[in-house]
Amino acid sequence: MTGKVELLLPAVARSAAVTETPLGRLTVPSRAVPERRVMVDPQELVDLRNAARSAADRAHAPYSKFTVGAALIMADDPERRVFTGANVENATYGATICAERTVIAQAAAAGFRRIAILAVSCTKALHARLADRSPCGICRQTIAEFSTDVPPSLVLIDSGDDDVLGDVLDLDRLLPYAFRIAP
Ligand code: THU
Repeated sequence: MTGKVELLLPAVARSAAVTETPLGRLTVPSRAVPERRVMVDPQELVDLRNAARSAADRAHAPYSKFTVGAALIMADDPERRVFTGANVENATYGATICAERTVIAQAAAAGFRRIAILAVSCTKALHARLADRSPCGICRQTIAEFSTDVPPSLVLIDSGDDDVLGDVLDLDRLLPYAFRIAP
């Protein structure tokens, strides 16, 4: 039985830049993400990561053979049940659904709207560099749709190691400039 631990999400700061061109100014926007501390339960993270790994065994990936599993807990689910999903490919290729969107669709259809933690495990690329086992752009935007800022929705990306629980990102770090419809 392990207790909760405080997870540090360090601040990110990038400066703006302006370049004059003969046709007008080109601006590179600045980016400032404040430091955050959030309490997490390591046992819950291990359980989610393991559930994501097992879910990958149920992937329908006959074309790419790249099996992906995802598992999540919704913050607005008082039972904190674990939903799981896997990538479901299609002969048209384009109709393929990634593991992350499969599991989010299940949780959303069950009535929940706010992700607490989503774990993803690309079981064919577990020790690869982060970009090769991270959610794709469409999935990031879907995660954004069901994310909250306080407390931050977290994404745990399996790195395959036994002594590392995985790489953790919040939405600010996963998808800067996520598209939103202004309220
Ligand atoms: N895939 C996912 O399930 N999640 C991702 O974030 C990246 C890619 C799936 C889609 C496809 O079935 C296979 O991995 C290869 O791209």
